[in-house]
Order: sequence, then C-alpha cells, then structure tokens
Amino acid sequence: MHILKRPRRLRLNEQMRSMVRETVVTPKDLIYPLFVVEGKGIRNEVASMPGVYQLSIDNLLKEIEDVAKSGINGVILFGIPDNKDERGTGAYAEDGIIQKALREAKKEFPNILLIADVCLCEYTSHGHCGIVQNGKVLNDESVELIAKTALSYAHSGADIVAPSDMMDGRVYSIRKILDQNNYTDTAIMAYSAKYASSFYGPFRDAANSTPLFGDRKSYQMDYGNVNEALKEIEIDIEEGADIVMVKPALSYLDIINRASSKFHVPIAAYSVSGEYSMIKAASHNGWIDEKSVVIETTTAIKRAGADIIITYYAKDLVKWVTQAGCV
Ligand code: PBG
Repeated sequence: MHILKRPRRLRLNEQMRSMVRETVVTPKDLIYPLFVVEGKGIRNEVASMPGVYQLSIDNLLKEIEDVAKSGINGVILFGIPDNKDERGTGAYAEDGIIQKALREAKKEFPNILLIADVCLCEYTSHGHCGIVQNGKVLNDESVELIAKTALSYAHSGADIVAPSDMMDGRVYSIRKILDQNNYTDTAIMAYSAKYASSFYGPFRDAANSTPLFGDRKSYQMDYGNVNEALKEIEIDIEEGADIVMVKPALSYLDIINRASSKFHVPIAAYSVSGEYSMIKAASHNGWIDEKSVVIETTTAIKRAGADIIITYYAKDLVKWVTQAGCV
C-alpha cells in the first residue's frame, strides 16, 4: 500500500519540533569578545556597534562576572593601548593593557576561560598586523614578536592564545616558545582561515586598528578561495594548533562545513563585527526581528559545523535561547 509521506507530522507543535531539532545553540558554544582600554570607570559605546563597549579593567571585571553567571565558558580579549609605535611594543610589554587585564581577571575568575587575541595591529602606529619595512609587512620578524606576545599573555594568565595575524609559521613559533617556558597547558586557537574581509570595518573602529596605508590582502586570505583555507588549516594543525578558526562566519559557512568534515579538531567560527552591525542596524530600523534573526544565524553557524562560536551577541543569545526553551 502506498502511504502518503507527511513530514509535517513532526512539525505539528513546538514540543514535537524541539524533540526532533538537530541543532540547538547553547551557552557553552559561545565566546564573548571584549575590548579593554587603559583608565578607570570607562565604558565607551562603539558608535558602529551599539551594545559593544570599550571597557577599562574595573568595568571589564564586572562584565566578566556577568558572563560567568550566564553560563558562557569564556571571553576573548582585545587590547587598545594608549600609545602605539612602529614595533607594537605595547603588545608584549610586561604592563601592557592585556597583561594587566589577564592578571586581574584570572585572579577573580579562575573558572572563566581567558582567551587572548594575539596580534600587533592594535599596537602598531601603522595599524598592520606585523613589522613594516619599505611598505611591506615582514613575516619572520613579525612572527618573533607575535610569539613573544603570546608567551607574555600565557605568563599573565591566558588559558588560550589566539593568533589572528595570519603570518606564516606563527603557530609553530608560539607552540615552541610556550613549551620551552613550561606553558604546555596553554592552548592555541589559531585564526587559520581568516579572510581579507570588509566585514571587519566596525571592529577597526572599536579597536582603533585601521591600517594607515594599504590593506591586509598580503596576509589575510582571498575570499574566492576554498583550497587555500584547507591548506592553512592543515598547516596550523601540523604546527600545533589545538583549535582552528574560520572567520568571518556567515559568508563562509561553506568553509566551516568543509573544515569540520575534513579535520578532527574543534572548529571555531567568528561571527565578526560587520555581521553584528548589520543585524543591529536592520533591527534598529524595525526591518527585521533581532532576536529571531540572531538565533537563526547562530544556529546556522553551528549547523555548518562550528563547535565554538565567537559572537558579540553571546550574552543576548544566552538570554534568548534560554527563554525560548531551546536549551
Ligand atoms: C586583529 C583582529 C581583527 C578582528 C579580530 N582580530 C581585525 C582585522 O583583522 O582587521 C576582526 C573581528 C571583527 O571584525 O569582529 N587582527
């Protein structure tokens, strides 16, 4: 007997739908990015990212307390130093902004994973992610400073260091210097497939890191490429990355999917500033519903294969998915 197939049966009501739902976002999937500045009592809202703030360490600690209560496992910290120079010395200074923030945060919140973004672009006067000579970003000289920065963050309390510079060989050099100094437990989350994307615009306002000349296309990846992403990820795993990242997320779901099918390490995806600002702006205008769009897009990132999602919506998401009964 022929039976009419009725897939709608499993969509009949929310109880049925939630019973068969394959992908659900939970607080443990999320990492919350935070921007740290020098000073006291500072909480500057970023104009292009409503709801995102540059925080002085006292306010940063309050924010981390909130995050800890919400059930999110970790935060990723970005530093905005008072002074910049050619060699980005603020990135690896003993009293650098991130070093100070890590020391205080580790003391107060030993159970929150502290991830330190490792890059020079917020610290260099020219805004590039490495050392510049005659208009070129040098690789090996930059890697040396990037590894030094990672060691300094590990020493200050980072549980995970996350190199976002896209220089060749940085993961190898970071793993080596960490191991030589007995930081064998410090994990590396490599921004492995990081594309030269226009979606980073609002972040550069937040972190004050727009390059003074040129662009980042000689180190970040060309968005036409898939094989190059798989190659970069493979190299980073060989060099010792514990977690690899695809960035941005929404326009790169295919890359996340390919990476998660091919490699057997945790895959992180960074839903970047431009993705956040687009949703904020459209919802501010009443054109889309912020909450449901954010749950939908974040679920899509997880469904594509991401195990870890870095998002400026992390705190809101926890509230929303808990309310919606999704966890
Ligand atoms: C630093 C860095 C950037 C982002 C994360 N780490 C900016 C860039 O590469 O220009 C972007 C994050 C975002 O847009 O939310 N290299």
